[in-house]
Amino acid sequence: MLEVAGLTAGYGGPNVLEDVSLDVEAGELVGLLGANNAGKSTLINCISGVLRPRAGSIRFLGEDITRAKPSDIVSRGIVQVPEGRQVFPRMSVLDNLLLGGTTAVARPRRADRLEQVFTLFPRLKERRPQYAGTLSGGEQQMLAIGRAMMGGPKLLMLDEPSLGLSPLFVQTIFRALRELNAQGLTILLVEQNLNLTLSCAVRGVVLERGQVALAGTSATLRADPRTRQAYLGL
Ligand SMILES: Nc1ncnc2c1ncn2[C@@H]1O[C@H](COP(=O)(O)OP(=O)(O)O)[C@@H](O)[C@H]1O
Ligand SMILES: [Mg+2]
Repeated sequence: MLEVAGLTAGYGGPNVLEDVSLDVEAGELVGLLGANNAGKSTLINCISGVLRPRAGSIRFLGEDITRAKPSDIVSRGIVQVPEGRQVFPRMSVLDNLLLGGTTAVARPRRADRLEQVFTLFPRLKERRPQYAGTLSGGEQQMLAIGRAMMGGPKLLMLDEPSLGLSPLFVQTIFRALRELNAQGLTILLVEQNLNLTLSCAVRGVVLERGQVALAGTSATLRADPRTRQAYLGL
């Protein structure tokens, strides 16, 4: 479904990513792992078109999207849940959700998708008239995922959804991701939570200082001491 090949990217200075390749098959949940500053966000920002790579290519469903606009990439079905959730605090929960379904392809299906989001996260249904800014961190993460689901993603990319959440909410979020994946949604999950990610991902890719240090099935990565070393920068 997604083929990233030889990707090199940066922000004006030296390269932050160098020659990164990564594939995601339809229906998979793939973990993108690595320590702070390894380049995980940079990679998914390239995939969603927010950052233009310096070299390499990105293909989605067989088509080249390396230089496509973010709005075009969303319409094709790649939707990102950004780091830090980025909900609109002075808008209601409901309006935040509706905003996620405003592309021409998503708009006709907003009512159905809203029901699906409320089934996944009943808490959001209870809180739908409330300002998003009044939600707890865990509820805001549910909202960020719900808003992404309103766009009808074929590939959902999440950037550290468990960051800063209480253990109970971390469980809730991971349970929801497992459920979405079991329903057939393809997921690329950026996380620092190694154990939890490997417990639900079929495969993982470990980035280290902008390069792929290791890649393999979750079982292989769990057994390989280099996976942990990549986090400690050894
Ligand atoms: N907007 C930016 N401008 C300049 N440098 C950045 C920017 N965003 C990230 N970087 C740098 O790129 C490197 C990788 O960052 P990032 O992709 O955010 O890593 P991760 O998500 O794995 O923590 C870091 O050295 C970081 O300082
Ligand atoms: Mg990041």
